[in-house]
Amino acid sequence: MRLGFLGTGEITAAMVRGLAGQGHSILVSPRNAATAAALAAEVPEVSIAPNEDVVAKSDVVFLCLLARVAEDILPGLPFREGQAIISVMVDAPLVKLRNLCAPATDIASTIPLPPIAQGGCPLPVYPFSPALDALFGARNLILPLANEAALSAHIGASALCSPILDQLQTTADWLSGFTGDAASAEAYVAAMIRAYLPARATRSELAEALRKLSTEGGFNATLRAAMGPAKDDLRRGLNGFRKRLGLPEDGEPN
Ligand SMILES: NC(=O)c1ccc[n+]([C@@H]2O[C@H](COP(=O)([O-])OP(=O)(O)OC[C@H]3O[C@@H](n4cnc5c(N)ncnc54)[C@H](OP(=O)(O)O)[C@@H]3O)[C@@H](O)[C@H]2O)c1
Repeated sequence: MRLGFLGTGEITAAMVRGLAGQGHSILVSPRNAATAAALAAEVPEVSIAPNEDVVAKSDVVFLCLLARVAEDILPGLPFREGQAIISVMVDAPLVKLRNLCAPATDIASTIPLPPIAQGGCPLPVYPFSPALDALFGARNLILPLANEAALSAHIGASALCSPILDQLQTTADWLSGFTGDAASAEAYVAAMIRAYLPARATRSELAEALRKLSTEGGFNATLRAAMGPAKDDLRRGLNGFRKRLGLPEDGEPN
């Protein structure tokens, strides 16, 4: 497939690395210059081209810009009917993208994460995108959603990554303070948590794992109780996204 990326930053680099070696021809825009040059040097399928060519010469165009930059530059680009557009941008509602990318109408929005470079990345998407599925479905977890509000809620939930990684790092640091082996401490903490995580959608694996870790007086139950206020902080932080994400302000989600 002929693929184009507008905005060659952090997330484009990860997606392009995840697509390497699969026979696609990939155009990336010249900014960021250092990232574009690094990708072109590393991935033989990648060429650098002006934004106009990225759009004109691609069957699938990924929008990987900051939303305020997209508003400025997308209207001047030669989008066409029949072209698949996949936005990864937050703060870019579909109604706005349809205006910015007219006359293209096949527009979907998703939220990749940097681990897409290796695969195993969840990709919530609305509306379903056959192009996204064809390109990333084999190595990642495509999650088609029923509406745009569900996608917005996934954007909010994705913010859990950094506080959780922060807690893992804090725990690894605490552990290595006793063992003197930072690398092993990090490997231990990462493998321990990874072992608990369900790979596919399930209704109750997390709850069941928590139930098994609830022995009264046990280390897990004791630490969880000590961190009880953090759970309220998490809910408060997630609810703080509602306005920006266009989610209802009242009541708790089901
Ligand atoms: N990073 C993530 O984990 C992640 C995950 C999901 C979604 N997203 C979304 O993806 C989008 C990009 O995020 P990012 O983290 O990749 O940001 P980033 O690293 O800042 O990338 C944005 C890129 O856009 C380039 N750019 C600026 N003006 C341009 C123009 N006129 N034409 C072409 N390119 C231009 C920037 O180049 P310069 O450096 O030269 O300014 C930069 O390389 C955002 O909307 C973000 O919300 C990011």
